[in-house]
Amino acid sequence: MKRTIILKNFRIVDENVNMLGSVIVEDGIIREVFPGSADFSDSGLSNKELDGFLDSARIIIDGGEGADKWGLSLLPALTDIHAHFRDPGFPEKENLESAALAAVAGGYGTVVCMANTDPVIDAPEAAAALKLRSDALGLIDLYPAMALTTGMAGKELSGITRLQPADSGQKAAWPGQRPRRPPLILSEDGKDISDDALLLRAFQEAKRLGLPVSCHCDEGGETKATARVIELGKKAGCHVHIAHVSTKEAVALIRGAKAEAGNAESGFTLTCEASPHHLVLTDETARMLGEETWGKVNPPLRPEADRQALLGALLDGTIDAIATDHAPHSNSDKKKGAPGFSGLETAFSICLTELVSEEGLSLSRLSSLLSASPSRILGLGDRGRIAPGYRADFFITDTDSFWQVDPANMKTRGKNSPFTGRDVRGRILMTIHRGRIVYEAPALK
Ligand code: DOR
Ligand code: ZN
Repeated sequence: MKRTIILKNFRIVDENVNMLGSVIVEDGIIREVFPGSADFSDSGLSNKELDGFLDSARIIIDGGEGADKWGLSLLPALTDIHAHFRDPGFPEKENLESAALAAVAGGYGTVVCMANTDPVIDAPEAAAALKLRSDALGLIDLYPAMALTTGMAGKELSGITRLQPADSGQKAAWPGQRPRRPPLILSEDGKDISDDALLLRAFQEAKRLGLPVSCHCDEGGETKATARVIELGKKAGCHVHIAHVSTKEAVALIRGAKAEAGNAESGFTLTCEASPHHLVLTDETARMLGEETWGKVNPPLRPEADRQALLGALLDGTIDAIATDHAPHSNSDKKKGAPGFSGLETAFSICLTELVSEEGLSLSRLSSLLSASPSRILGLGDRGRIAPGYRADFFITDTDSFWQVDPANMKTRGKNSPFTGRDVRGRILMTIHRGRIVYEAPALK
């Protein structure tokens, strides 16, 4: 018998849809999405079909209290193309379990974790093993990024030379594409590779594999480092993804290069991400929190003019995705100057509050930036939308409700949130992964 769940009376929002309606899920895949009321009179389904679904439904989740009160929103689960899970090697900061719990509490269904662990994820077997351990938890779909060089030492290419192209023997269907094997993205995140010839060879491997390379652009300043990876990416004809863009100069460079890349024959593709903290906070916050401690992050929080440029780039489509760069640290490491912020449990609410309510970004566009668009960068065409055939990965939120950011209530071991004490909108009430409830918010006191 099929495992059916019905989600009725929701505001359904994805990058293309914003409507009142209901969803029928079968065996972890969206079967039907239709507008209209609780009695399914607008569903277009025959009574027989509807009775079939209602009879077999294990769970019915009701987002409203009658046809005229549509309280709750249903959105596709979020995809984070950039997070640090610290596993293996740094359990005092985070591990696979605590990170996955934080992810689902934040509405995430798919996450890329970076390779700067101990040992470094620099072999295909290590990436596959980490994914297997995560799959066994059944909370999220984890895709470990693989480092470009052995031990992230910047000396020689890592096990990426042993990878086979992800698409070999596996034609991608859209939607309904089967999950691909890891890695889906390569990255030396946290470091630049100084040697041009070595970075070019890494880009050529990425081109052979058809995988994007997420580039941390820091050495010699963000502008220079960004220009350099764009140059080398053009040479290799690969997909360069710029991580955590933070300056107005880098934004301008990327905007220009994207216009060129649009008709590049080489296969050169350019995408980029920005992080909630760079979109919302400035160097003033860093000073307030302590520039060398709780306010420290790489790249650093920038002046307001940079933030304004990021907002412009978000609105004009230069920025493709919002990524958390979730970087949990223990309190003692933060006090000693470890850079980074915890981000998985605040990203959606911070963006909803500061970008949708304050800056006029539409909720559909926010959904795209946090879900469908990063999924596409990873080649995951089977998620990020609420439409028949897509994965039943959702989260439920009340966009009118407020909650206060308090790390004491967070699942992550890294209590280093720069948003502590803020009142934000849109608590995550429930997260559904492949048609199963993996998170329910505790009742409010
Ligand atoms: O602030 C940061 N923290 N930026 C990075 O690029 C790395 C990260 C970390 O691993 O802690
Ligand atoms: Zn990072």
